[in-house]
Amino acid sequence: MDKLIKNGILVLPQGHSKGDLLLQGEKITAVGEGISYDPLKTEVVDAEGCLVFPGFIDTHTHFQLDNGRFISPDDFAAGSRAAILGGTTTILDFATQNRGETLAQGLANWQDMAKDKTSCDYGFHLAITEWNQQISREIKEIAAAGVTSFKVYMAYDNLRLKDREIFQIMKKVDEIGGIVGCHCENGDLISCLTAELREKGEMSVRSHPLVRPAQVEAEAVYRYLTIAEMAGVPVNIVHLSSSRGLAVVEEARARGQEIYVETCPQYLLLEDSRYELPPRQAAVYVFSPPLRKPADQQALWQAAAGGRVDTIGTDHCSFNIAGQKEQGLEDFTMIPNGIPGVGHRPQLLYTYGVAAGKISLETMVRLLAENPAKLFGLYPRKGVLAPGSDGDVVIWDPDKVSRIEARTQAHQVDNTPYESFEVKGGVRAVYLRGRLTADGKELLEAGKGCYLSRGPSLRFRQQ
Ligand code: URP
Ligand code: ZN
Ligand code: ZN
Repeated sequence: MDKLIKNGILVLPQGHSKGDLLLQGEKITAVGEGISYDPLKTEVVDAEGCLVFPGFIDTHTHFQLDNGRFISPDDFAAGSRAAILGGTTTILDFATQNRGETLAQGLANWQDMAKDKTSCDYGFHLAITEWNQQISREIKEIAAAGVTSFKVYMAYDNLRLKDREIFQIMKKVDEIGGIVGCHCENGDLISCLTAELREKGEMSVRSHPLVRPAQVEAEAVYRYLTIAEMAGVPVNIVHLSSSRGLAVVEEARARGQEIYVETCPQYLLLEDSRYELPPRQAAVYVFSPPLRKPADQQALWQAAAGGRVDTIGTDHCSFNIAGQKEQGLEDFTMIPNGIPGVGHRPQLLYTYGVAAGKISLETMVRLLAENPAKLFGLYPRKGVLAPGSDGDVVIWDPDKVSRIEARTQAHQVDNTPYESFEVKGGVRAVYLRGRLTADGKELLEAGKGCYLSRGPSLRFRQQ
């Protein structure tokens, strides 16, 4: 059956206004007013009083992440269920090449984890942790398999690369029209600061932010952008957390560099006083980069509103307190890093961004759907309500009010960094490629997500 979504407020790139949307098969076929349709073949859905968004895209998840000691409980089934229930119809997860593996093996491992289990559409970035001539030759093959974005790490001893390797990766990825994102933290300094605190016996949870101060991020951002300038390529910075890091980006942009920036809801909404909580509660907030100061939040909000932050992903990487995070209460380096978030991002941005007057509806859609689709080679198939785009649609009830609780969340873990946050607005219905997939309460169709083979990055900052 075709669907005509009637009388909603359509949030389009050029503005929001009342209108209708026709879904035929997997696609949107008409947008606007007075759309003609066949009443015998069409279900009419009344969206009066609701906003109608393109399906949201979270380009930063780590489902079923094995950090060597623990596996994060939100696998592709649970994580994508939470995504859909919250209005996110596409995720990009980070497949990772373990050292000793080819890129193709890394990708195949993640394809196996996701296949037939994922309820939203999905694709992968590929994190490169080892680089040589043979691996360099694989980039073309990986792009042909639909992966055009890569991640490099400047922190974590088992993941990070040398500066010269990052330089070579940037140039190679640019040849296929892809983009390299970076985890910008100076791993050497983190190790050194950690060793100093260990010597002093100061290994409680509150030391986590002390070994990863904003300088550690800003230095890495400066180095990464200098490498990119020398390579002559645009780059992406993932999970930017600090105003110092942002200032480095702004200086490089002023010199003419093309730089894309992602931040995450946690850096907009939470501050570093959380590390002063009793250790079991503070452990929830152990992720990297860590939380910062209110001034950093303010700088990131302003940048998000002003088009200087391009995307907001969650860095969803959930671990339980029981049996997982609690293992590191005496030594914070043993706490698995990460938080849940994929299900809550649209509500958080709607409540604390749009309803709070910090960003417009159009900016919310740019940050959560349009820009991610453009940067990662999915536009205009995803990220916009337009004829020819996939029928990924969220009918959003702005009058819903609820409270985030670990006990009731869809994420399959025993904690959330947003415990007790009041949220306004919520999903009334989610369509994935034209099919009603969630009704505001339940997931109606599990495991129907498709792997997305992606094209080159659409570098919208050039235009
Ligand atoms: O603490 C975090 N962010 N865990 C996930 C891995 C990463 O660096 O993005
Ligand atoms: Zn990272
Ligand atoms: Zn991450």
